[in-house]
Amino acid sequence: MSATIAPPRRPEIKTALPGPNGRKIIEADAKFVTPSYPRPSFKLVAERAQGVWVEDVDGNTFLDCNAGVAVCSTGHCHPEVVRAIQDQAAKLIHMCGTDYYYQLMPDLARKLDEIVPVPSPTRTHFANSGTEAVETALKLAMHVTGREKFIAFFNSFHGRTLGSLSLTSSRVAQRLGFKRQVLDVVHVPYPNEYRNPFSAEDCEGEGAGRGALNWIEKRLFKTTTPPQEVAGIVVEVVQGEGGYVPASKLFLDGLRRICDEHGIMLIVDEVQSGMGRTGKMFASDHCGLKPDIITIAKGIGSGLPIGATVARADLMDWKPGAHASTFGGNPVCIASALKTIELLQGGLVQNSAEVGAYLKAGLEKLMRKYDCIGDVRGMGMMIGVEFVKDKASKKEDPELRERVETACFERGLIILGCGVNSIRWSPPLILTKENVDVALEIFDEAIAASI
Ligand SMILES: Cc1ncc(COP(=O)(O)O)c(C=O)c1O
Repeated sequence: MSATIAPPRRPEIKTALPGPNGRKIIEADAKFVTPSYPRPSFKLVAERAQGVWVEDVDGNTFLDCNAGVAVCSTGHCHPEVVRAIQDQAAKLIHMCGTDYYYQLMPDLARKLDEIVPVPSPTRTHFANSGTEAVETALKLAMHVTGREKFIAFFNSFHGRTLGSLSLTSSRVAQRLGFKRQVLDVVHVPYPNEYRNPFSAEDCEGEGAGRGALNWIEKRLFKTTTPPQEVAGIVVEVVQGEGGYVPASKLFLDGLRRICDEHGIMLIVDEVQSGMGRTGKMFASDHCGLKPDIITIAKGIGSGLPIGATVARADLMDWKPGAHASTFGGNPVCIASALKTIELLQGGLVQNSAEVGAYLKAGLEKLMRKYDCIGDVRGMGMMIGVEFVKDKASKKEDPELRERVETACFERGLIILGCGVNSIRWSPPLILTKENVDVALEIFDEAIAASI
């Protein structure tokens, strides 16, 4: 008798989307919940999720290649993470680490000291979100340097609280109505190699990375922004919300040199790109970048809210009261983070690299098939696909991006847009090659139906 191979699991869509139960929840949401959330054109109303599969309130099952916006790194409700959370919740839920002590806090800080690209020894400040981790980094840089100015990059996203919002520049909707920015931040075009914003003269034949460095040194430092007044340069190694755009080693090495020359803090925001997402523990590790301060959130807690700002120990020597948070470093969230890191080190970072490369190769194949895919870029399971009118003109096609996103959803694949006209692939790091084959088949069909 020949062995039968089980067919790969596929999404199952049984109702109109959203279904009747989903529509009721969306109605209630529209009435009582703030309309400021930037929800996409498709509407997912989740009920439960396991691994890479999400079930909605009408019994439809989706293959999740977004992971709750790059958060559920170990997959939804990983049994070991759930157990760690349950055990900790039964033991100690809260104690306020700003006033009292518990073992978990130094445990996670020690673990972070081992894995972050910031040179050891380090110290960690715990918060509850990405934006708070960024706020901490900004305050620390001001405290250490006694300076106030920051340099950030266009299309960056660092959060929506007022300090981090001064850096954020990926959409005007994030700024509209909030008047002048609270911090003194000057923005530089991000060195997007596909859409190089710099002149040939500025690039010196070395691409957008050199252009950005020259912009900072030859333009900013010689006009509006004396380097001796700059507290920090804040950068995403792979720009996230801005379109999943990786920066080059030349550029990142150059930023390190500029910071060293002028006593500026290099703040690397790895809230989205960290914790194995790019196939290494941190995106900085791809090019040996050594930040002074790094910000972490999203994937570290497998879905529980935790942010961390890790800095060189000699920098983080501020006095009691200078910065703290009631909930930051909550015991249950730390228990989840420690288990997450164990799972990442135990194979998921490796899986992110291997299955991510397989996914990228499949997307590159689709780029060769369709003239409307202008660029496929990224590392590990942080891959951006940019939709254009055609390859020759590179004209952005945000409407097509929306149509593809919706067509994927209707077929049971969850992917989310980023930037003006890109789709991000940020699946749980447990994704298998079998899942990738199913996802790519749906993506292909969705593009064919949308052009
Ligand atoms: C790079 C980066 N920094 C900061 C943030 C803000 O994180 P949060 O939404 O947890 O405040 C995000 C969120 O998308 C991000 O991608």
